[in-house]
Amino acid sequence: MKILLFGKQGQLGWELHRSLQGLGQVLAYDYPEIDFTVPSSLRRLVEDTRPQIVINAVAYTEVDKAESEAGRAKLINAEAPALLAQVCRGIGAAFVHYSTDYVFDGMKGTPYTENDAPRPLNVYGQTKLDGEGAILQAGATSLIVRTAWVYSMRRDSFVSKVLSWAHSQPEIRIVDDQISNPTWARALSEITAQLLAKAGPDPLPWLSERRGLYHLAGWGFTSRLEWAKEILQNDPDQTHQVVQRVLPARSVEFPTAAARPLFSALDCGKFERIFALRLPDWELALSLAMETG
Ligand SMILES: NC(=O)c1ccc[n+]([C@@H]2O[C@H](COP(=O)([O-])OP(=O)(O)OC[C@H]3O[C@@H](n4cnc5c(N)ncnc54)[C@H](OP(=O)(O)O)[C@@H]3O)[C@@H](O)[C@H]2O)c1
Repeated sequence: MKILLFGKQGQLGWELHRSLQGLGQVLAYDYPEIDFTVPSSLRRLVEDTRPQIVINAVAYTEVDKAESEAGRAKLINAEAPALLAQVCRGIGAAFVHYSTDYVFDGMKGTPYTENDAPRPLNVYGQTKLDGEGAILQAGATSLIVRTAWVYSMRRDSFVSKVLSWAHSQPEIRIVDDQISNPTWARALSEITAQLLAKAGPDPLPWLSERRGLYHLAGWGFTSRLEWAKEILQNDPDQTHQVVQRVLPARSVEFPTAAARPLFSALDCGKFERIFALRLPDWELALSLAMETG
């Protein structure tokens, strides 16, 4: 199988680059070799390399900054992915793309399914939703995987932030009104690779039958506060923790440029039913991530 991966240095992209190796030839790129703000530059690369699968782990993920850089976020999150999907259709490749729980407004109160109507609260969520729509409209064999609260042990994430606060402050306050599914980038990349392995050496027909939108995130959901407490319990460097109190806070106490959905947990039942695969429970994944690094 020949795979073209975009975003190999990102949290998810780095793990994908690692997890996909057993599947065949993996050609992997990231900024500045490729620049999603110039979508037309991508066409030639895809047409010249003629992969069977294109996987897009590139995204503009700075949720607050996107409020003042809407044009850039739209190019990276919507227009470039749309062009990739069109080119994939042209050369008969399948397209795998990731999206976000932030397409939802967080008002539902129970985990969101793929049938729930999106209503993003911020520019990032809107540009990701625009990307989903444009990809589906392109008519390629596409899998759009919405995930949530991604972390890796390689790049800055909520996990590294909590550890750094706990090693430097006696008291930390974490919001308990934001709830979703913590998702270990490695677990997500490994399930992506397993799915492609099931598709076999001629993946297009198998994927075409299963094309569409899926939710796939760490199994179960929790608040940022409970997630932080679990991070501290799994900290391999507990002797250097100086934190004595971890206190609940409300999101309104920490104003940010972008509004965030409060309850954006994803129901991943459809993915499990169709592919017979699921991510591990979020607590188990976190302990594995913090044990293995
Ligand atoms: N992080 C989360 O909590 C979260 C939650 C839900 C869904 N998701 C989705 O999951 C996917 C993976 O997210 P992630 O956390 O792995 O993202 P990430 O760590 O921010 O990685 C994004 C990658 O895209 C690259 N990139 C940014 N601008 C680019 C450009 N103009 N041209 C080419 N590459 C560019 C980045 O390079 P630089 O580092 O050089 O900028 C980086 O390698 C995304 O689709 C994201 O929307 C993420």
